[in-house]
Amino acid sequence: MFTYMVPIESLRAIELFAGCDDKLLRQLSRLGTEVHAKARQVLAREGDVGREFYVVVDGLASVEHAGERIGTVQRGDFFGEMALVDGKPRSATVVASTPMTLYVFDPREFFSLLDAFPPVSKKILTTLAGRLRAAQDQRSDAGEVGA
Ligand code: CMP
Repeated sequence: MFTYMVPIESLRAIELFAGCDDKLLRQLSRLGTEVHAKARQVLAREGDVGREFYVVVDGLASVEHAGERIGTVQRGDFFGEMALVDGKPRSATVVASTPMTLYVFDPREFFSLLDAFPPVSKKILTTLAGRLRAAQDQRSDAGEVGA
C-alpha cells in the first residue's frame, strides 16, 4: 500500500462527509491518509487486533465472517469501526475484490472524527446499528437458538 494526504475536493464527494462544511473538510483532510490496495488484498482479518478505520473512495471489497460473505463495501462505505469502538478483535475479514482507493484513519484520528464531527459520528452509529441488525437477522435465518 502507498499513501497520500487527502485532498478536500475528494473528501467532499464522499457520502460519509456530506454534512461537513469546508472548515470541517479542511480539518478532516489533516486527519486521514489516502491508500491504495490491490485486488485480493486483505484489509482487515477476522480475529486480528484492529487499528484502522477505512473509508472506501473507489473499488469494491467483500466482507466475510466464518468463511461466508456477509456483505460488501464500496464507494462511500466504511469499515473497521467495530474493533476500534470496542477494542475487541475484528468481527469479519474485509478483502478487496477490485483495486481500491481508501482513506485510512488511525485510532486517534478515528476518535477525533467521532468527537469533532457530529454529522460523521451519527452516520457511523446508524450504519453500525444496521450491521448489528443484519447480523441478528442472519443468525435468526440460520435458526440459532437464542437469536
Ligand atoms: P471490524 O470488526 O473492525 O472489522 C471488520 C469490519 O467489517 C467491521 O469492523 C465492520 O466495519 C465491517 N462489517 C461487519 N459486518 C458488516 C456487514 N454486514 N456489511 C458490511 N460491513 C460489515
